[in-house]
Amino acid sequence: MSRKLYIKTFGCQMNEYDSARMADALVDEYGFEMVSLPDDADVILVNTCSVREKAQEKLFSQLGRWRPWKAERPGRVLGVGGCVASQEGAAIRERAPYVDLVFGPQTLHRLPAMLGEHLRDRRPVIDISFPEIEKFDCLPPPRAEGPSAFVSVMEGCSKYCTFCVVPYTRGEEVSRPFDSVLEEVRQLAAQGVREVTLLGQNVNAYRGTMEDGTEADLALLCHYVAAVPGIDRIRYTTSHPVEFSDSLVRAYAELPALADHVHLPVQSGADRVLARMKRGHTVLEYRALIRRLRALRPDLSLSSDFIVGFPGETDAEFQATMDLIEDMRFDHAFSFIYSARPGTPAAALPDDVPFEAKEERLQRLQTRINEFTVDFNRAMVGTRQRVLVERISRKSELEVSGRASNNRIVVFPGDERMLGRFVDVRITEAGVGSLRGEFMGVIEAGSRVSAANWR
Ligand code: SAM
Ligand code: F3S
Repeated sequence: MSRKLYIKTFGCQMNEYDSARMADALVDEYGFEMVSLPDDADVILVNTCSVREKAQEKLFSQLGRWRPWKAERPGRVLGVGGCVASQEGAAIRERAPYVDLVFGPQTLHRLPAMLGEHLRDRRPVIDISFPEIEKFDCLPPPRAEGPSAFVSVMEGCSKYCTFCVVPYTRGEEVSRPFDSVLEEVRQLAAQGVREVTLLGQNVNAYRGTMEDGTEADLALLCHYVAAVPGIDRIRYTTSHPVEFSDSLVRAYAELPALADHVHLPVQSGADRVLARMKRGHTVLEYRALIRRLRALRPDLSLSSDFIVGFPGETDAEFQATMDLIEDMRFDHAFSFIYSARPGTPAAALPDDVPFEAKEERLQRLQTRINEFTVDFNRAMVGTRQRVLVERISRKSELEVSGRASNNRIVVFPGDERMLGRFVDVRITEAGVGSLRGEFMGVIEAGSRVSAANWR
């Protein structure tokens, strides 16, 4: 019997990655066909996020909308995975008793077995345990979709920032063995992948065991990944300021393959707030780190995460965040209004910043960052960028789209022969979300073929 699978993903890149692995596991085991409309599916899985309350509420309204789908035909299966599943466990079925499977981020590899069990006896199956690294060992080999791919290198977080649920929903930091990561990168490179993004909640806390029993950090891993034939660009996300080692800073001088972009969440520009968030560093330390990185890579794109309205945040403390933004010129950011999460230490603090003040702070912050985004993009006009071409443009068949090293999307006239290749592009126009350019030449086997000779 052919079964059709639909997966809905909320939340971060880690969740996007996990959803792709769930699909791989079920396609491998049962020959599922993926569908893009939930109504066409026999099995719906929703991969959830509980970082903010809004994300969690979204789940239950979504499940409510799928209730008629489930009732329409017996045998349809509805599963909930991810961080809300991990946090709520069996309680999900109290609010939505028609849910058949509940699995956490660390048990998604058991999904084929859980589904099999449910199909046999039609009883709900719940598994939200943390079987450590087992997940990485039990997943099928990766399937590349295009020239750029994600590779998960570590899971979980042991930082316990006072506002954050991740350590409770995903467990403590666990790194994947060094050789297993490299093997996955080699398999992807053999399928035409040219750029990898190393993924982890706290990716620069990576401490992978090597064959001889010694530990490798993220910098060493990047050196080895860069040496894999075919891999010419490396990104990683998300990093934490306290784990930004000297070796990782040095890698920006030593490794041209490391992309010209760092996403380094800071959350606030006020020491008192950082301390109460338990971030483990001061504003000065953050500034010094960015200064060292920019000394090595003057064109580095810098993005960050911010929380406004953390309990007790005063106007002056918010202003300190704005000052930091002014000085660092972040060219992109994810910014959020503080959302108290049950079970976290900050949830015990009075949530005392008025909602209007939180909204106004968010608005001010986002307006300033957007201005820096535009400035950064405009400064790229006239420069030459190396772009990895990912797809034919959605708007025109005569154009292609890809990413520059600094993570900016660039669209320019081109054709399908450029797909999956690095090409040189001169930037001609800057928009907010993307840039336009003209093709200058393609990079083949390490050397450049100019536009004039490319027919
Ligand atoms: N290192 C992680 C990352 O960015 O992947 C941080 C984890 S969290 C999933 C991503 C961002 O969500 C954080 O950097 C923070 O800005 C935001 N966040 C986490 N908990 C939050 C909360 N309780 N309220 C508002 N924003 C929150
Ligand atoms: Fe959350 Fe802080 Fe870890 S934001 S994911 S506890 S570094």
